[in-house]
Amino acid sequence: TGLITLDAGYKNTGSCESGITFLDGEKGILRYRGYAIEDLAEKADFLEVAFLLIFGELPTKAQLDKFYTDIKSKSVVDDDVRKIVDAFPKSAHPMGVLSSLTSALTAFNPSIVNVSSEQDMYNSVVKIMGKFPVLVAWALRKIQGLPLDYGDNSLGYVENVLKMMFKQPNQEYVQNPIIVNALDKLLILHADHEQNCSTSTVRIVGSSHAGLFASISAGISALWGPLHGGANQAVLEMLEAIQADGGDTKKYMAKAKDKNDPFRLMGFGHRVYKNFDPRAKIIKAAADEVLNDLGIEDPILDIAKGLEREALSDDYFVKRKLYPNVDFYSGIIYRAMGIPTDMFTVMFALGRLPGWIAQYREMRLRNEPIGRPRQLYIGQNHRVFKTVKNR
Ligand code: CMC
Repeated sequence: TGLITLDAGYKNTGSCESGITFLDGEKGILRYRGYAIEDLAEKADFLEVAFLLIFGELPTKAQLDKFYTDIKSKSVVDDDVRKIVDAFPKSAHPMGVLSSLTSALTAFNPSIVNVSSEQDMYNSVVKIMGKFPVLVAWALRKIQGLPLDYGDNSLGYVENVLKMMFKQPNQEYVQNPIIVNALDKLLILHADHEQNCSTSTVRIVGSSHAGLFASISAGISALWGPLHGGANQAVLEMLEAIQADGGDTKKYMAKAKDKNDPFRLMGFGHRVYKNFDPRAKIIKAAADEVLNDLGIEDPILDIAKGLEREALSDDYFVKRKLYPNVDFYSGIIYRAMGIPTDMFTVMFALGRLPGWIAQYREMRLRNEPIGRPRQLYIGQNHRVFKTVKNR
């Protein structure tokens, strides 16, 4: 064990070489394949970004059209999946439903990707890109007691997801371009973030050569926790609790700073960003814009802005370099779109899917060794075994 260095939480350990996402936590820089997140959020759409992340280059129009045509051709899930959805209780958390259904897809699709065949890898990519939005929509329709429908393949990827989620029986679904644009932007901002907890999970599960669907289902479970993707749900629940408690932000600031109180200001702090989270800047502006465009006045937004103002001028937060992260304002936008709080982390998963795929593909193509950290043993030394009657 002499050579093993302990690095709990892998704060200083690089687990791989990667050419996908560049992140400078001190300067607040985030780039996908060399392109600034600000440019992508403003000028690209989610499917282009997915292609960029997975295959390394921005697609030409012809490549993008083919990619989407192939995705659409694989977007039907086996009819037996409906029976699985039916079997969940209506109270099931949609993240549990999503991870189970993603895992269930391995039963209907060969789970092992033959990475030496480019075609095999491509087929797996378009399959999961096609089927995942259906599972996302069905996770929502389950908790809302709506029939499990497909959308409309003549629509764009994001428009189609929205229709699949929200279409009511016997009613026409009318797209709202403000909502389409906002969701597109949110998905782009969530699409990859180098070796975070869920992505590392996908890579480590895949490093045993488990299939793409199985590895992604493990990533969904990792994303669920409130310290990772689950923070967006936790932020909104926190803001609602503060509102219900009379809007006293100072009281919650004090709780967050109290080391005897487990309460943390959700949506604040980041393992890597120690200056600001560039995604949070974009999302804050988007939240203002969306609420304004939709004509919604949400007192929760004022509470969020109040908390941010106080935290940014508070010694405790300043000293520890705790800034609002991507999850601080995203929930406010999801709420304005009519997405229930329980579904926020599912929306994060939908955005992160291309990142997980890209990282899995890179790891397999580079033929990385199986992930297998070591430990520093702190248990008992050798002990003499006693049979049960002598204990
Ligand atoms: N509220 C109050 N104190 C905090 C917070 C917070 N949100 N975050 C960190 N701290 C304190 C922490 O108590 C510690 O203080 P001290 O040095 O006195 O012991 C110090 O800041 C450093 O925190 P840490 O827990 O050692 O830092 P970490 O890098 O292990 O954790 C984090 C990063 C994001 C898990 C943490 O900041 C956190 O729990 N934030 C709230 C949850 C959240 O918003 N998560 C979303 C992260 S961004 C999207 C994603 O990755 O999915």
